Amino acid sequence: MAHKRLLIPGPTDVLPEVLLQQTKPMIGHRGDDYTKLYTGIIDKLQKYFNTKRNITVLTASGTIWMDITGRNMVKKKALACVNGAFSERMYLTIKDCGKDVDALVVDWGKAIKPEMVLERLKGGNYDTLAICQNETSTGVRSPVNEICQAVKKEYPDIMIVVDTVSSAGGDLIEPDVMNADIVFTSTQKCFALPPGLSIGIVSDAALERAKQVPGRGHYTDLIAIFDYYAKKQQNPTTPNVSLMYALDYQLNRMLAETAQKRYERHLAMAEMTRKWATDHGIEIFPEKGYESVTVTTLKNNLNKNIGDLNKALGKRGFQISNGYGALKDKTFRIGHMGDWTPDEIRSLLLNIEDIWGL
Ligand SMILES: Cc1ncc(COP(=O)(O)O)c(C=O)c1O
Repeated sequence: MAHKRLLIPGPTDVLPEVLLQQTKPMIGHRGDDYTKLYTGIIDKLQKYFNTKRNITVLTASGTIWMDITGRNMVKKKALACVNGAFSERMYLTIKDCGKDVDALVVDWGKAIKPEMVLERLKGGNYDTLAICQNETSTGVRSPVNEICQAVKKEYPDIMIVVDTVSSAGGDLIEPDVMNADIVFTSTQKCFALPPGLSIGIVSDAALERAKQVPGRGHYTDLIAIFDYYAKKQQNPTTPNVSLMYALDYQLNRMLAETAQKRYERHLAMAEMTRKWATDHGIEIFPEKGYESVTVTTLKNNLNKNIGDLNKALGKRGFQISNGYGALKDKTFRIGHMGDWTPDEIRSLLLNIEDIWGL
């Protein structure tokens, strides 16, 4: 099967040297070698995110953190901000966990803003707030630092959970500045690793809250996860050791590049894509000023067949994404995340230009 460069919003391409890490011999997850590997990973994640907060790496994709939210954070009632498919998934998951949850619904393509959240929280007796920082279905980036700071000022007891699945490791995510209680992400997007691991950055207050919430489940019990780490510096259940090797190696690369430089590289790719679109009469889908730096969603206002474009791009070794759900054929998405560079994005854009005769 010929390889297509994955310029979809995840999973993204993984460098061969990173993939190779997974071929290291297996080690037992209860031995000193694993403890050294895993504590090293946690240490590197704390450095990368410039935080001393509790961090765990789970062998599960990012969605597990939606179940963790429902089962560990929500005592009585949550407010989930919904402005696309993944933030809606959070709302539905909290409901599936048997918890009471309201949705602050905003049109797809629009951002969540501090004043909307503050207005909605008034008198609502919410104990948990969920927001998606980077809505992959629409390419909208919500100002989570401002939202979390504003909410924490007025409602310090509300636990805030932020989904950064398609942005952490690319966009600048600062857990201490944000002061959210759980910030989670997956490895297959801006970390440019294979799918299968998720990372959660968790405040002490979130752990205190979890202790007060019964029915946390087994695999999803935050207290069990962090108690085990405190006691043994390992995971409570068998982790995907091969992916941990790859994560450890990739974190060395990420620390060498620095979070700031990774952000600047992602921003440069996003700005290049937006400028290219505007120069060719293609409209940008997200609300102005709230565009993602990791995935650009463009309107199909030239009325092209996006499926045909992807087929033609496939013959040239590229793959992009159609619009998500109801936005299929109305929009299309270019994922510029992970280890891609502006030169590679330019090459993709020139190919689209050529295929469409722009
Ligand atoms: C913003 C966002 N949240 C959550 C998810 C779900 O993550 P996972 O597929 O790792 O479970 C995705 C996946 O695309 C996403 O983009």
